[in-house]
Amino acid sequence: MRRRRAAVAAGFCASFLLGSVLNVLFAPGSEPPRPGQSPGPSPAPGPGRRGGRGELARQIRARYEEVQRYSRGGPGPGAGRPERRRLMDLAPGGPGLQRPRPPRARPLPDGAPSWPPAPGPGSPGSGPRLGCAALRNVSGAQYVGSGYTKAVYRVRLPGGAAVALKAVDFSGHDLGSCVREFGARRGCYRLAAHKLLKEMVLLERLRHPNVLQLYGYCYQDSEDIPDTLTTITELGAPVEMIQLLQTSWEDRFRICLSLGRLLHHLAHSPLGSVTLLDFRPRQFVLVDGELKVTDLDDARVEETPCASSADCILEFPARNFSLPCSAQGWCEGMNEKRNLYNAYRFFFTYLLPHSAPPSLRPLLDSIVNATGELSWGVDETLARLERVLHLFRSGQYLQNISAGSRAEYQRLPDSTIPQEDYRCWPSYHHGSCLLSVFNLAEAVDVCESHAQCQAFVVTNQTTWTGRQLVFFKTGWSHVVPDPNKTTYVRASG
Ligand SMILES: *[C@@H]1O[C@H](CO)[C@@H](O)[C@H](O)[C@H]1NC(C)=O
Ligand SMILES: *[C@@H]1O[C@H](CO)[C@@H](O)[C@H](O)[C@H]1NC(C)=O
Ligand SMILES: *[C@@H]1O[C@H](CO)[C@@H](O)[C@H](O)[C@H]1NC(C)=O
Ligand SMILES: *[C@@H]1O[C@H](CO)[C@@H](O)[C@H](O)[C@H]1NC(C)=O
Ligand SMILES: *[C@@H]1O[C@H](CO)[C@@H](O)[C@H](O)[C@H]1NC(C)=O
Ligand SMILES: *[C@@H]1O[C@H](CO)[C@@H](O)[C@H](O)[C@H]1NC(C)=O
Repeated sequence: MRRRRAAVAAGFCASFLLGSVLNVLFAPGSEPPRPGQSPGPSPAPGPGRRGGRGELARQIRARYEEVQRYSRGGPGPGAGRPERRRLMDLAPGGPGLQRPRPPRARPLPDGAPSWPPAPGPGSPGSGPRLGCAALRNVSGAQYVGSGYTKAVYRVRLPGGAAVALKAVDFSGHDLGSCVREFGARRGCYRLAAHKLLKEMVLLERLRHPNVLQLYGYCYQDSEDIPDTLTTITELGAPVEMIQLLQTSWEDRFRICLSLGRLLHHLAHSPLGSVTLLDFRPRQFVLVDGELKVTDLDDARVEETPCASSADCILEFPARNFSLPCSAQGWCEGMNEKRNLYNAYRFFFTYLLPHSAPPSLRPLLDSIVNATGELSWGVDETLARLERVLHLFRSGQYLQNISAGSRAEYQRLPDSTIPQEDYRCWPSYHHGSCLLSVFNLAEAVDVCESHAQCQAFVVTNQTTWTGRQLVFFKTGWSHVVPDPNKTTYVRASG
């Protein structure tokens, strides 16, 4: 996978030299070639295809209507209290989006809705500021990855900020199989682009610190397809589970808390209770240590209709749950519970308890257990996570620290020990022992618990919870001045 990405990136970089990024991004002929796949011409329409254009138009219409539902904000049936919000994109006088020209709505034969969608539904409003103009002089374009439908690129804007661009992947699975089936490249583009549009509308409607921020979008013609859509979003780093398992508990807890806050937001969103049908870690990214959902084209708002609780089985590979069927004929809380169990099986069970402060373990174990059993809803789960944050941030988790015999430490202000490092786990710094502490007493406790530790250096860098970072050292034979640090050395005895 990594190799394939690298190869694709290399292909992209090579073709980047041939023209501006936009030509490369939007001209299907110059898409980055995939290994083992020649960028040949799309198959010509031929006989023997299922359905035909009428079927394609029907599918486009279905997606179009879904997007319209989301952009109008009406919650799906069975969703909780409707919290109708003013349609931002219809609000007059809001900061407009830069569009180089008003897109001309183009009708498609056979009754498919016109593309691009009429102004209003489907086009986000007050938030995004960037338009096509922002993409005219980008640099450092890099292929990031692709799914079935979309390809993601990282580019640098003229101001220096790096952003992500998402566009329909012309050599992707979705477009390819549609063209094979219907032989209609434009119609197939339109079908695929509605997924991108849906995601854009959801990113805008579900704005939250743990939802990737939409900065804007651009419609422009590519060589043979008019008005291709590119969305411009915040850039995140992929969630690498193996790497996360090696980071501090504090950082892993942050990810779980982010997820708890996101699921709470999704359960109470203006659109109703939103579920993410595809919940794998690759649907999320990290931005400055916060987890954010990026992929929303598999999000669903509608709850499952039912006649009895036999219709409300939540199926997972290792476990099935039966939920109640409400009097209104909807499976109660199914969207929320699906998200919660997925949070348990993909994130909490790996990230939450492992190497946590011992006094917090019982609380964390209960969160893992309750989400794994679906015995709490999202509100309760988030309340418990916030409680853990409070105990950790306020230092209350330290109250029962063992008051064993302690050595005395001598304070050497404005100084540091440049070497004499040892490794510890999980350190914030490769090659030395850098840990966060709540206060001096905790730093002393850590030093006392490490056989090698003879000194430590308190920095004034802090972690996301405001804890101070401290270097632990094997000795203090060489102490040098540093205005930002304070050294503590273990007195003999
Ligand atoms: C694009 O960026 C380059 C390098 O930053 C700059 O020299 C050039 O003037 C820019 N062009 C436009 C049209 O802004
Ligand atoms: C869950 O339900 C499905 C279909 O009802 C069944 O095939 C599967 O074996 C069940 N899985 C577990 C773990 O019970
Ligand atoms: C600290 O110890 C007391 C008494 O042993 C206990 O009641 C309390 O729950 C402990 N607190 C924590 C955070 O472990
Ligand atoms: C939750 O705890 C119960 C009782 O200790 C145990 O039987 C069950 O397997 C746990 N469930 C999960 C998902 O950890
Ligand atoms: C770092 O700490 C030193 C004293 O230890 C203080 O003088 C300095 O202002 C602090 N710097 C920052 C950026 O907080
Ligand atoms: C101390 O911190 C200040 C502010 O963060 C920084 O500008 C300065 O370079 C630091 N001094 C040393 C010696 O690291």
